[in-house]
Amino acid sequence: MGSTGARYYDLFMNVISLGYYPHLIRKVVDKMDIQPGQSILDIGSGTGRNDSFIAQKIDPEGRILGLDISKEMLSLSRKRCQSYPNVEFREQRIEMPLTYQEEFDKVLISFVLHGFEDVQKIEIISNTYQALKPGGVFCIFDYNEFDLERLWFPLRWIFIRGECQLALEFLRLDLKGMLSSQGFTSFEEELFLRGHLRLLKAAK
Ligand SMILES: C[S@@+](CC[C@H](N)C(=O)[O-])C[C@H]1O[C@@H](n2cnc3c(N)ncnc32)[C@H](O)[C@@H]1O
Repeated sequence: MGSTGARYYDLFMNVISLGYYPHLIRKVVDKMDIQPGQSILDIGSGTGRNDSFIAQKIDPEGRILGLDISKEMLSLSRKRCQSYPNVEFREQRIEMPLTYQEEFDKVLISFVLHGFEDVQKIEIISNTYQALKPGGVFCIFDYNEFDLERLWFPLRWIFIRGECQLALEFLRLDLKGMLSSQGFTSFEEELFLRGHLRLLKAAK
């Protein structure tokens, strides 16, 4: 994402959601059931907005590591979370092998996974499985499976205009099947915005 896209990302999300997005993210973070002292990996951490909410839950004993490829996003997230010494951001391509082994209680991927080819999604899921402690939870916040044809016409138009082909395919993806193939079990779902968005939790 370029510097302008990164700088205006949060504003864009606020505007298209009519100001609801920060409340939505707080709800999603609440549903992640984060406990003080936990270690959290955020893959595709963007502007760090989610991490600034998570940081309030983990206390100083906990840790957040955010990974992103965009230098602009990393700069914004570091600035936003500078008051939390236990929050760190690193430049890292998340579909490439990661070095983390059973280090994290939870991994979050928020509005990132739908933009990858299936083979890359598998790499990301496999990386996550390796990075999670036994019993750890993968939290995927993204589009739910839904029938685009049944979406209210103006919203359908915005979706088709604004999103990539991979996002359209994501609406029909058997994500739980893909997660199961990499070892994840015990799925739990929280639905938002009339079921169009989903927090899918999968245990290692
Ligand atoms: C739509 S934003 C979502 C940001 C954040 N997770 C959120 O919910 O606000 C997608 C983010 O994924 C990052 N990203 C895209 N491809 C990536 C990759 N291959 N590896 C790491 N980060 C990536 C982008 O730079 C961007 O910050």
